[in-house]
Amino acid sequence: MKQYNVGVIGATGMVGQRFMLLLANHPWFKVTALAASARSAGKTYVEAVGDKWSFDCPIPEKYHAMTVLDAEADMDKIASAVDFVFCAVNMDKAKIRALGEAYAQKEVPVVSNNSAHRFTADVPMIIPEINATHLEVIAAQKKRLGTKRGFIAVKSNCSLQSYVPLLHPLQGFGIKEAAVCTYQAISGAGKTFKTMPEILDNIIPYIGGEEEKSEKEPLKIWGHIENGEIVSATSPAITAQCLRVPVSDGHTAAVFVKFENKPSKEEILSAWANFKGEPQELGLPSAPAQFLKYFEEDNRPQAKLDRMEGNGMSVTAGRLREDSVYDYKFVGLSHNTLRGAAGGAVLLAELLAAKGYMD
Ligand SMILES: NC(=O)c1ccc[n+]([C@@H]2O[C@H](COP(=O)([O-])OP(=O)(O)OC[C@H]3O[C@@H](n4cnc5c(N)ncnc54)[C@H](OP(=O)(O)O)[C@@H]3O)[C@@H](O)[C@H]2O)c1
Repeated sequence: MKQYNVGVIGATGMVGQRFMLLLANHPWFKVTALAASARSAGKTYVEAVGDKWSFDCPIPEKYHAMTVLDAEADMDKIASAVDFVFCAVNMDKAKIRALGEAYAQKEVPVVSNNSAHRFTADVPMIIPEINATHLEVIAAQKKRLGTKRGFIAVKSNCSLQSYVPLLHPLQGFGIKEAAVCTYQAISGAGKTFKTMPEILDNIIPYIGGEEEKSEKEPLKIWGHIENGEIVSATSPAITAQCLRVPVSDGHTAAVFVKFENKPSKEEILSAWANFKGEPQELGLPSAPAQFLKYFEEDNRPQAKLDRMEGNGMSVTAGRLREDSVYDYKFVGLSHNTLRGAAGGAVLLAELLAAKGYMD
């Protein structure tokens, strides 16, 4: 496989740090530029991250002396040093939209974690195992942007990755509606127990914007392409409540689901066990061999025990049983900064590379 030079925009943040770890020994991708705000620009990576490093393992040595560039002011320098960039900045939405399009117009593909472009109709929002076919809309996006190789592709919000992958293989039974309550880790807010002490012995029943994303984004993922745009699906109806809980990593979802044609429990388990997507078929480096894993034990999945399943890229489930109001209920879990953020973006970039979009 060809080797690609990669930039990480927002490299000093929590998701950016995850990118740096995931890319440190990546077989296809090599970090050749890293960028953050003007506050960090000019410093070495170690200086810029300072005590914001969020992981138990140390910063990989190869990054220590790399100079952090300014994501906006040094755009030309970054564009000339990379084949594509990952983007995980924390800025206001209008600025993120402009930043992404500016890189694309410099002919640099952008694989983004940000929500700013998720509802731009010609920007694909991809969970690689589910809607890889939406990449076809990139041709229309390039036409709009007037680019030859520059484009933006995004991943979805982290919360829905703990239930959409589990609902997806059941679409054949006609999902009518789903009610979801998510129990979300503090790393989803870019926090640790040190920086979010108010979460200890506590649950916070509000995460700004999260419920709307959790209800709306799945419909774009299940949408179809029409005239160069992705048209969102109109069903199933999803209602969500999202709570912040005292967990470092791993979003859990309690899910209730109603079908047109109610399957048996065995049919659901078999649909999960046998589900494979294009990443598994293509053997992409970050694809977990088993995307969906079911636990028979009543006390699983647990965030602490199971979030690292498949190197943090599998989605786990448990407690599938019939329900007296809906047809079934179950619990899902996914790692929010791996599958839900940086890992999902790296897998998306691998899919794009394997399909020739990064050439
Ligand atoms: N954490 C998660 O699980 C998760 C999951 C999915 C999506 N996301 C999204 O990913 C993004 C990053 O999240 P995070 O938790 O990593 O945030 P974070 O820890 O606050 O990091 C923010 C990054 O953005 C950079 N930045 C801020 N202002 C900038 C500017 N004006 N120009 C260029 N860079 C700028 C920061 O650089 P400095 O260090 O120089 O300030 C830092 O590198 C957010 O939009 C978040 O919603 C997060």
